Amino acid sequence: MARLSLRKLFIFFLCLSAVLFLLITLQVIVELGQQHFGQCKPPGEPESEYPYIVWWSPLTGELGRLGECGTNKCYFTINKTFYSHPSTHAFLFYGTDFNIESLPLPRTACHQWALFHEESPKNNYKLFHEPVITLFNHTATFSQHSHLPLTSQFLESLQVLTSHRHLVPLTQKNKLRKMLAPVVYVQSDCDTPSDRDAYVSELMKHIQVDSYGQCLHNKDLPPLLRDSTAMEEQSFYQILAQYKFILAFENSVCDDYITEKLWRPLKLGVVPVYYGAPNIRKWLPNNRSAVVVIPDEPPEKLAQYLKRLDEDDREYATYLEWKLKREVSNLELVKELKERPWGVQDLTQENYIDVFECMVCNRVWENIDRQKKGLVPKSWQAEGNHLKCPPPKMFDFVSDPRNQTSLRGIWISSYEQSKKEARALRWLAERNRNFTVGQYWKEVFPD
Ligand SMILES: *[C@@H]1O[C@H](CO)[C@@H](O)[C@H](O)[C@H]1NC(C)=O
Ligand SMILES: *[C@@H]1O[C@H](CO)[C@@H](O)[C@H](O)[C@H]1NC(C)=O
Ligand SMILES: *[C@@H]1O[C@H](CO)[C@@H](O)[C@H](O)[C@H]1NC(C)=O
Ligand SMILES: *[C@@H]1O[C@H](CO)[C@@H](O)[C@H](O)[C@H]1NC(C)=O
Ligand SMILES: *[C@@H]1O[C@H](CO)[C@@H](O)[C@H](O)[C@H]1NC(C)=O
Repeated sequence: MARLSLRKLFIFFLCLSAVLFLLITLQVIVELGQQHFGQCKPPGEPESEYPYIVWWSPLTGELGRLGECGTNKCYFTINKTFYSHPSTHAFLFYGTDFNIESLPLPRTACHQWALFHEESPKNNYKLFHEPVITLFNHTATFSQHSHLPLTSQFLESLQVLTSHRHLVPLTQKNKLRKMLAPVVYVQSDCDTPSDRDAYVSELMKHIQVDSYGQCLHNKDLPPLLRDSTAMEEQSFYQILAQYKFILAFENSVCDDYITEKLWRPLKLGVVPVYYGAPNIRKWLPNNRSAVVVIPDEPPEKLAQYLKRLDEDDREYATYLEWKLKREVSNLELVKELKERPWGVQDLTQENYIDVFECMVCNRVWENIDRQKKGLVPKSWQAEGNHLKCPPPKMFDFVSDPRNQTSLRGIWISSYEQSKKEARALRWLAERNRNFTVGQYWKEVFPD
């Protein structure tokens, strides 16, 4: 009897210690995974003189380069094995290939994340939700709110706007109207979150539009241009410059998302009919330099307005007055171009990738210096508006469902799914352990 209870007691303690051991091991694993506490160890002997910054996307292709950013130096590499190096302070991501399949997790207190995403919101929707964008410490996006705004990335300079190089005089445009429509459209991406083709096809019922691209195509390019596989830009510009209006419709509707679709007509001296960034007026060279589409109004109304301008030279000319006077009256745009720290197709200025790298390098150094002085490190955090678009909306005047392509409407469900993905990714990132694709999808669709 006594021997039996002794054995029971022994087994009890054995189990207890096993459970305790398991609990302690688990705790250690969890804490290893969440080195959120404590300060980031500054680089220095014996590891490295410079902080390492790892491109988690192979955007630059550089296996290793000591970059100089003012007086600071950082070592930039795409070599992912530096993930575990104690001198690694930041990871740089390129939005379009920000991939959940291999993220640098666990993330330590040392690991700052930085996102470069200059692309259309079409690419990688899940980045456009607060749970994901706020995972990053530093951002460079088209949004004016980001840490390194790229809003004017498609505009080389103010000079190209005020230049008369391609300008076709109105008298000649009027003569050309015997052969050409008043409006031109050139697009080869026909199913987009902005649903632009639905609008344009409705507009085409009410005003003549020459469409040279694949979308709503109704006019071929001159044989000379058609033959050349790589359409030479200058001769294409000459064709566009003959028109009175160019439909400048972005593929997505987000504040500050502005592409060459807007700037090209302005350069050529053609009036853009713009649909895209709702806050476009903030960026126009002059508030009478573009016809801005009001999406809630019927395309027929827009067509009537364009026809009126087409028939009234004086009225039409008011939209080109700024160009003829070579006058950009929007001081915010002037300031933006003057103050942006990077250039476009300009060898005398840095490109924005280098500027982005240096922004992160300098911020990493700022905290290293603060820590050396015993100061609390600075904290950087992306906010929701660094990458934000309203949900895509479809125009409702496509009456004949046969005319819809199967892809139309995919953006709404794609956006809805990306919201779920964003929540799942946030949860997995906060759990701070690496995960498989399978685990990810199980988190996105729990049922
Ligand atoms: C990446 O770095 C590791 C360790 O420094 C090195 O052994 C490896 O050769 C590097 N990979 C490439 C492709 O250079
Ligand atoms: C047009 O721009 C001028 C200054 O450039 C401004 O004072 C005026 O309010 C603007 N008008 C509209 C309708 O936005
Ligand atoms: C970077 O962002 C993470 C996640 O929000 C945060 O925990 C960390 O403190 C930030 N680091 C810095 C240096 O701002
Ligand atoms: C829809 O398609 C039909 C033929 O399939 C065509 O006749 C009609 O003009 C189209 N309507 C629109 C709005 O494109
Ligand atoms: C997580 O990381 C460990 C160590 O780097 C690796 O062995 C393992 O395969 C990773 N697991 C997943 C799910 O990626």
